[in-house]
Parts: sequence; C-alpha cells; structure tokens
Amino acid sequence: MNLEEFIKKSPKAELHLHIEGTLEPELMFSLAKRNNVEISFKNIEDVKKAYNFSNLESFLKIYYEGAKVLIEEQDFFDLTWAYALKCKEENIVHTEIFFDPQTHTDRGISFDIVINGIYKALQKAQKEFNLSSKIIMCFLRHLDEDSGFKVLEQALVHKDKIFGVGLDSSEKGNPPNKFKRLFKKALENNFVTVAHAGEEGPPKYMWEALNLLKVKRIDHGVQCLKDAKLVEELSKNQIPLTVCPLSNIKLRVFNKLKDHNLKTMLDKKLMVMINSDDPAYFGGYLNKNFIEIQAALNLSKEDIKTLLVNSFKSSFLNEKKKIEWISKFN
Ligand code: ADE
Ligand code: ZN
Repeated sequence: MNLEEFIKKSPKAELHLHIEGTLEPELMFSLAKRNNVEISFKNIEDVKKAYNFSNLESFLKIYYEGAKVLIEEQDFFDLTWAYALKCKEENIVHTEIFFDPQTHTDRGISFDIVINGIYKALQKAQKEFNLSSKIIMCFLRHLDEDSGFKVLEQALVHKDKIFGVGLDSSEKGNPPNKFKRLFKKALENNFVTVAHAGEEGPPKYMWEALNLLKVKRIDHGVQCLKDAKLVEELSKNQIPLTVCPLSNIKLRVFNKLKDHNLKTMLDKKLMVMINSDDPAYFGGYLNKNFIEIQAALNLSKEDIKTLLVNSFKSSFLNEKKKIEWISKFN
C-alpha cells in the first residue's frame, strides 16, 4: 500500500474543525436562496475568487459574511450533516468540532437553533455510521469578555451537548489574558478548555493560554519554535498542538508547504497532529491536508503513523476508546 492509500484507509480523529468553515459555496448559495438572504457574491465562481487571503483577518471577513446564510435549525443540521458525510468518506471516525455562537446570536439567531441543528446531525451520524464526536463552543476573541459571559450562560442550559470551550477569531491584539475571568467560570462549570494561540500571535499568547486559561490543547501553536522554553514545556507535558497545514498556507503563516515547521515539531517530540480548520475555505479536507504535507515534507510512514496515533491520544475520547483506536496501528 502506498502512503496515500495508507492515509486514506487509516482511521483518523479530527480535533480542529470549525463547522462554519465547512460551508461549501454550493451550500452557501442554496441556503441564501432558501432563506432569501442577500450575499455579496454573484455566483460560485465569484466566491471562489474571493478565497485569496492575505492573512487571518482577511479570511475572517469573508467567513463571517458566508455564515449569514445560516438561519434555521435545518441549515445548521444540513451544514453539519454534509461534514459528517465527509468524515465517513475520509475515514474520520472521531471529530471534535468548534462552533461560534456569537457569529449567529449577534445576528438575532437563537443559541438553541444553532446548537440543536449541529447536535442532531452529529447524533444521526453516530447512529448511522458510528461517528463519535464532541462539540466545543468558541468565544470570538475580537469581542469583549462580557459578550462571552452571555453565551456561556446560554451554554449552561446545553451542558449535556457541549464538552468544552475554546477561543478563536482575530488573534493579534486579543491575547488569552483578555478572557481569564470567562475561562475561570467555564472551568468552574466543568467545561474543558482549549484556545487558538500561536497561529499568527507570539509564544507569549501560548504561555497565557496554558497558565491563565488552563487549556488542555492549543489550536495551531506553530509559533512555539520561537521560544525554546515553551517548546520544552509543551514537550515535557505533551500538550497537544492541533496543526492545520493547508490553513497555514492559505492564511500565509508560511509561504509554502515546504516551509512548514511540522517536521521540526515532530522531531522535537511535540504532540502534534493534522487537522483541516476551515476546509471549505482552505482547499481541502483532512486527507488532502495529510497527503499534501506528507509530499511537501517527505514525511515517512512512521511520521504519518505518529500523527494518526497523536490524533487519538490528543482527543477527548475516554481512555478505553483511545486504546481501541490506537491498537489498530500496531
Ligand atoms: N475561526 C475560523 N478559523 C479560524 C482560524 N484559523 N483562526 C482563528 N479563528 C478562526
Ligand atoms: Zn481554527
């Protein structure tokens, strides 16, 4: 079996996936029509042309524009169901997905509509093809902490459906420190915490995520190599870093895949794995991320196995389930 086949056939866990980032242009247009929502793109070609980003900020502008077509519970269900079918196609057997409630509640969509649509689709996927999943609610870091407290209040009503909380959106200028009281309250309410840090922002933000937000994982974290002490800390405690190769190229964190630091991170024994982030916007789902980064960095089969095993080790599955999946690679 060649490496590409090995990647496609292996069971995988995805740990960094924004459900709003799986909105394909075709679904965007059909939902715009169904809901009578005006969007600033003429056609699908026009949308694809706009997906030429210069950094995180330029992407987020278009990403929030696209999300405006999501109005009814059925829309959130359809969006999530389409991603669940991708999981089936790609042999993703476990997924931990982010959603951004403030993107929707600030447009007058109720929190219940959003969470119920996502949750029902994931339940159907569990029943029909045994896809396991967790839902992580992200706070938008460009907004203030008070707005975060309001959505946390609403999340408490759905504690049975929401496993953890995270932090996303514009990183630079919005350090984890800004949300330390909010994350303290989330922890008091038994939510697991994660945060985007070190995507574009400095190692300092990764330290803050660890020390102030008490995160179990850091999303992206590719800037860590600038700080040897941080690398030592991450390696010693095997803190997972949810790396997203195609995203990093699309948002110009690295110029080309060949310049990506994933192989260096693997060699430093950091707990890294591969994810797709916002696949509809960044040109590929999980398998494409694996296949392209393998080719660019000439990763060995052992490297690929490590990345696959790390995806399960770093997940929030229980120990028994983790062992079951990991044993398939021995
Ligand atoms: N929201 C969706 N994708 C994101 C990313 N890569 N970084 C920060 N916020 C995001
Ligand atoms: Zn992300």
